[in-house]
Amino acid sequence: MTVGARPALVADAAAVTQLLARVSEESPYLGDYGLRATEDQIRTILGAPPNRLVAWVETAATPGGGEVPVGYAHGLAGPYSTTRHVATVTVAVDSGYRAQGVGARLLERVVSGCRAAGYVRLRAGVWRTNVASMRLFERAGFRLDAVLPEQLRERDGTLVDEAVFGLSLREGG
Ligand SMILES: CC(C)(COP(=O)(O)OP(=O)(O)OC[C@H]1O[C@@H](n2cnc3c(N)ncnc32)[C@H](O)[C@@H]1OP(=O)(O)O)[C@@H](O)C(=O)NCCC(=O)NCCS
Repeated sequence: MTVGARPALVADAAAVTQLLARVSEESPYLGDYGLRATEDQIRTILGAPPNRLVAWVETAATPGGGEVPVGYAHGLAGPYSTTRHVATVTVAVDSGYRAQGVGARLLERVVSGCRAAGYVRLRAGVWRTNVASMRLFERAGFRLDAVLPEQLRERDGTLVDEAVFGLSLREGG
């Protein structure tokens, strides 16, 4: 059982770093196996100026009476003025909390937040083997914009296509 979703804070940096590390132990879907974003990198992301980063966590209660993030999602644009209108979306949920709607809930918050922040489009790059993620984005209204052949490589050398999902945030888009 989770406690609920709330915006991610800079103070969540350590816990979010650990969550992303745990999720990356089991799959390369966040970028690589054993991806090790440092706490400083995550703190920098979480400290991005308002209207740039839209980040949410879903927390679960700890035995000590605290709360710990078990799901994280963000939308964030790159540094260039030419692509500042497009936020790239990332979602990660601890394996013990999946298939309970956590990812969908966080993605919904990120979509709303990115719309409010003035982003024009959202983008997500997904491994073609990542059935759960493709379903998550499709259910949230994203469309398959492109399939890029052999963009990703598994540990055993297998090449995997990348599915690029997009969502227009324009009125009627
Ligand atoms: C992808 C991920 C975020 C989904 O999180 P989640 O909390 O389990 O997702 P939800 O419970 O909200 O489910 C969303 C939809 O995906 C479906 N889904 C979830 N897991 C699934 C699975 N293993 N196989 C098929 N469909 C699945 C759900 O049934 C639901 O669709 P529905 O509404 O039609 O039933 C989670 O599996 C994860 O963290 N994976 C590793 C990291 C990753 O791949 N991130 C995405 C890259 S950006």
